[in-house]
Parts: sequence; structure tokens; C-alpha cells
Amino acid sequence: MRNRREMRKEKIQNDLERFGSGILASDEMRSAFQQTHHTRSTLGALTRRVAEKSLAICHALEKLRIHTDIPAVVAGSLCHDLGMLDRDAKYDSEQTCSRQHPADSVDVARRLVDDLPEKTEDIIRHHMWPTAGSEAPRSLEGVIVSTADKVAAVEDLLRGSRVKPSDLKTTIRTISKRSFGPRRKKKKM
Ligand SMILES: [Fe+2]
Repeated sequence: MRNRREMRKEKIQNDLERFGSGILASDEMRSAFQQTHHTRSTLGALTRRVAEKSLAICHALEKLRIHTDIPAVVAGSLCHDLGMLDRDAKYDSEQTCSRQHPADSVDVARRLVDDLPEKTEDIIRHHMWPTAGSEAPRSLEGVIVSTADKVAAVEDLLRGSRVKPSDLKTTIRTISKRSFGPRRKKKKM
């Protein structure tokens, strides 16, 4: 008999197949599995992990009766970094890549998804939030994918891949500043 963990995994894989099979079979995704990312991973493997984590969050929210747009989450998470293909030839620096690749990923998504829905575009365009000067996503689905993306990056860091600790520090600082405002100095009594 399958345990709960296996059932959760199966539900995630079913949603990926059901709503993402076209993107998963695309030439772009095939190339993503050839492109190294964070030294030890590939762009394709990271993308798939972000999609799986996003779906795990959606399925957990479902239990709280919070419903999410699963097709948008699948398409958005699978396409969110595809604009980064051939990054070395396309971008002159890490900063340019961080700022520019979400818009480039929207262009790739327009080729892979018919009539790209607004919500899917929002997910892709704002997935770098709260880093790289990105605006916040306008949808719950956008926040979910953006969060899953950060968790996957932190996991890569803990596995010893080449995510710079300084990037992580900046991310945490940005999140805390936006959430709690700047730190105030204590007044002397
Ligand atoms: Fe990205």
C-alpha cells in the first residue's frame, strides 16, 4: 500500500503531466537540462524542483480550502527561468541576467503556451521578487512560485552549490526590510 508521502508525490507528478507535458517535451526544456546551474545542478532540474515545490504548496493550501490556479502554477513555474537559456552569450553580467531573464522567460512562454494567460505571465515576470528590484507578484500563485524558487535556491546553497552566500544575505535583508521596515536605532535613555 502506498504511504501518504508517495501519494503526495504522485499527485504532483500527475499535475505536472496533465498541465505541463507540452512544456516538458519542448526543445527549450531539453536544452535547460543541458545547461549547468548553481555549478552542480542544471537549469532544467532546478525548474522542475521549483514546479514540484510550488505544487506541494498548492496541494497543502487545498486542504485549507484555499484554491489555486494549478494550470497557471505549472506553466509559470516550468517557464520561469527558460529565458536564461544561453545566459553566457546573452547577458554581460549576473546583475543583467537577474534583471532581464524574467522578461525573456515571458517571451519563451509565449512560444510554448497558447494565449499565455495574464496570471501565468505575472508568475514568470515577477518570480525574482523580493530580489533584483522585482515588483511583487499580483497573484497568490505568483507568491507561491516566487517562494518555491527561493527555497530551491537555498537548498542548492546548503548542498554546496555555487549560490553566493552574499546573495542569500541580500535576499534575507530585502525580505526583512520590506516586511518590517528599516531597523531603528535604540534611543539613549
Ligand atoms: Fe529566475
